[in-house]
This record gives sequence, structure tokens and C-alpha cells, in this order.
Amino acid sequence: MNAVANIQDYRPLDRSTDYRSTVTWPKSELLSAISIIGLGYVGAVSTACLAGLGHRVIGCDVDTIKTAQIAEGVSPIHEEGLGELLANGVEAELITSTTNVAEAVAATDITFVSVGTPTSEDGGCDYRYIRSAAQAIGEGLRNKGEYHVVVMRCSVPPATTLNVMVPEIESASGLTMGEDFGVCFNPEFLREGTAIADFDVPPKTVIGANDDRAADILRRVYAPVDDNIIATSIEVAEMVKYVDNVWHATKVCFANEVGRVCKPLSIDSHQVMDIFVQDTKLNLSPYYLKPGFAYGGSCLPKEVRAVAHLAENLGVETPLINSLAATNEKQIQSAIELVRQSKGRKIGFVGLAFKAGTDDLRESPILEVMNELITEGYDVRAYDPAIDANTRVDNQFAYVRHVCPHLEPVVEALPGLLAADPLAMIDNCDVIVVTQRSKEIRQQVASRLGRVKVIDLVRLFDAAPSTNSYEGIGW
Ligand SMILES: NC(=O)c1ccc[n+]([C@@H]2O[C@H](COP(=O)([O-])OP(=O)(O)OC[C@H]3O[C@@H](n4cnc5c(N)ncnc54)[C@H](O)[C@@H]3O)[C@@H](O)[C@H]2O)c1
Repeated sequence: MNAVANIQDYRPLDRSTDYRSTVTWPKSELLSAISIIGLGYVGAVSTACLAGLGHRVIGCDVDTIKTAQIAEGVSPIHEEGLGELLANGVEAELITSTTNVAEAVAATDITFVSVGTPTSEDGGCDYRYIRSAAQAIGEGLRNKGEYHVVVMRCSVPPATTLNVMVPEIESASGLTMGEDFGVCFNPEFLREGTAIADFDVPPKTVIGANDDRAADILRRVYAPVDDNIIATSIEVAEMVKYVDNVWHATKVCFANEVGRVCKPLSIDSHQVMDIFVQDTKLNLSPYYLKPGFAYGGSCLPKEVRAVAHLAENLGVETPLINSLAATNEKQIQSAIELVRQSKGRKIGFVGLAFKAGTDDLRESPILEVMNELITEGYDVRAYDPAIDANTRVDNQFAYVRHVCPHLEPVVEALPGLLAADPLAMIDNCDVIVVTQRSKEIRQQVASRLGRVKVIDLVRLFDAAPSTNSYEGIGW
């Protein structure tokens, strides 16, 4: 079986050969020719689907069995509809394949990189295949003499594209990124089993680029299937892919723990979760999904403890749910550490309750931070627009004393450290810790930015200020 298609036979695409009814791209406009390095799940599906959009595609792999299969229009993997799509692409003379990456790169406008990124021995990412693919890309670009776009599609740790792949391409080609070639990171979100349907109707299309020219060329490739492309930096796009998959894994484990708790109670976990997912305001929504401060208040800490206790009594293990209190405590410790690192001694807290618009102090996590700082001898003051000297907090303190007896120092000190005027308090502090997000607080803090050190636990500003006197807890 001859695996290698002849690149010398490569010829301009006859735009009338589009065979998928979904193709809306203007036939008169020249479509980019694309080389795809790595014909595994991602590469094979991309080869078929991009040809399906009318692109000429050259699939490349070191595995001659895979290149042979692609050249013959046979799917190298089990994936619904892939064989048919590949066969159509080969028949339409849009798909060829080769083991010679450099030749394929030189003969195309865009190169997609979809080689494997297995786990290395130390648990990190094995860059071996990325490096060898990048070297071959560099060789292909060396004498090409035309601008080229390299699109990284592998799931990789942030900065891999720019710090691992690009240097290899530059040293093998003698060319410069941004001038001679552009680079994008374009994460792949396909699900095996429904990969072609996911290509046609993607959950999202993300293009990370630091070069508009490269991003525009890639944007045009995806235009027929997604007209709402999310543009960002390369590093953010790399991280998005990791975060997506960790989130999916978190959801799987969470749902399974719900099942483990429900089963011995003879409660149908599917009924529970069917109702759970119908809440798109709080449950499946951006709510609670932005990095910030620890959870708190009268419900979340109490109910997390209750479910962990329930599971223990039932004899079922719920390590994810049990770990929530520990990761919450880590966030409290991070806030304390930020204050210590600030070197300030007079610390003003803007916001006392666990969120803006309430005077509920029950299990407000900022009390933990204040308590620790008071114990360490810091001069602590606090302002909360919903709390003043007339606020009845006795019952809340009784609650706090009962659940958190270690908070006694802050409970005792609180009435004496409340400030009535936020700006006067800020002006009299070395450091302020912002714990609530509101328009009023944003204006107050903005008016003092640069004059006082700000530790922001709530991402007060959409764009974090880039000044030495501002520090966000997770950004
Ligand atoms: N499989 C998925 O569902 C999926 C989804 C999204 C993202 N990803 C990511 O996409 C990347 C590819 O995943 P996959 O599952 O398709 O991998 P895979 O292991 O199935 O295929 C990788 C292919 O790359 C080839 N290859 C390795 N080095 C090469 C080189 N120098 N030149 C040419 N070919 C080379 C291998 O022979 C193999 O065929 C990984 O980073 C993965 O994490 C995978």
C-alpha cells in the first residue's frame, strides 16, 4: 500500500467541487490550503471536516498506516460518519496524505498541529511530538518565501505554543514569528463519538493569537461553521482548554458523589440532577464561576458540612464534597498572606458581610481574615455600607460564636473598629482589602487607586489596574 500522496500533484482547488450542502463560503474566493500534522482523533476529523468545507487538505503523520488509510479515504479511527466524509474528500481530490511534513507545509498556507501530548514521567506534558513537528514545520517554511499560519491544536500547558513550539520553528527555519509566519492557538473541543457533529456545530470556537493577520486567516477558515468566534491571547486560549476539561471532570465526579449519597437513601439521583440542571440562573451559569474570595454566609458552609456529614453516616465516600471546606480555607489563607506580604500595618476592610447588600455576618469568611490579623497585632478597621453602629448583630455573633468559637477576638473587637466614612477610613490605612463588589465601592476605591495599597478579593474592576499598589487574589 502506498501511503504517500504525491505533493507534486498538488494543484489549485476547483472551487466547484464543494460537496457538502452546508458550505456557504463564496466559491469565488480562494480557500486556504491546509496541512494537518498528526492524524489521530483530532487530525483525522479536522482533515475530513476542513475538506468538507472545501479546503484542500494534506494530512501528515509519521505512522504510514494512518497516512495510507487517509489517502484511500478510510478512517483510521472508529468515529461516526468519518469514513464517509474522508472518502468524499479523497474522491473530490481535496484530501491527500504524506509522511513528509516539510513538503506538506511548503505546499500549503496553514498548518494545523494535532500531534499527541501524552503525560510525561513527572506528570507534566511530554513535548517530544510537538518539538519534532515544529522542527519539520521550520524546515518546510525555510524556503517557502510566503507568509504561513501555524495553528497549534494540542492541549498543552500555558506558554507551550510560544516557548516550546515557536522557538523550534524559528531555529529550524531562520524565520521570525509575526513577520514571516503567524501563530495561533485554537483549542479543539470535539467529543469522540460526535466529533463531526461537533465540528459542524461547535460549542465554541476560540482563536488565541497575538497577530491579527494570522487570526484573520484562521477566522475565515471557521466562518462557515461559526460566525461568533472568541478572540483572545494564545496563553488564555491554552488555559481555556485545560480549564474546560478539568471542569468536565469535576462535573462527572460531583454527579457521581450525588449518586453515591442518593442511592442508600432510595432517592433517584437522576431526578435530582434533572431538576438541578434546569436552574440556569444559579446552577449552570456564570454565577459562582469567577475566581474571587472564599464562599461563606448562612447557607453554603452549613450545607456543605451537612452533606459531608450525611455521606459519612451513610458510609459512602465523597472526597470531592469533603474537600470543599479545605479549598475554601486555602482561599482565606491566601488573603491573609497577601496582607502579610503588603508590609502594611493599618488594614482597612471594605465590606464585612459575605456579599454586598446584606448585613448578614454569619460565617462571613472575611471575619476569619480579620480575626487572624487582629491576633497577629495588625491595626484593623472595617467599613460596610449595610452595617453601622445601630445594626443588631448580637444574634449573628451568637451564631458565629457557636459555629466558630475561634472567632472570639474579631467578634469582641468588631463594634470598636467599624468606620462610618469609607473614604476617611481608606485615607487612614496602609492597605485596604476589598471584599464586596458594588458600584459605590468601585468608585470609592477608584478615587484612591495609587494612593493606598489595594488587595482586591472580588475583581472590583473588569480590567485589573496595572499598578504596583493593586493586587488581585487570583488575577
Ligand atoms: N482525542 C480527543 O478527543 C481530543 C480532543 C481535544 C484535544 N485533544 C488534543 O489534541 C492532541 C491530539 O490528540 P489525539 O487524540 O488526536 O492524539 P493521537 O495520539 O490520537 O494522535 C496523534 C498523532 O500524531 C502523530 N504524530 C506524532 N508525532 C508526529 C510528527 N512529528 N509528525 C507527524 N505526526 C506525528 C502520531 O503518529 C499520531 O497519529 C492532543 O494534544 C490532545 O490532548 C484531543
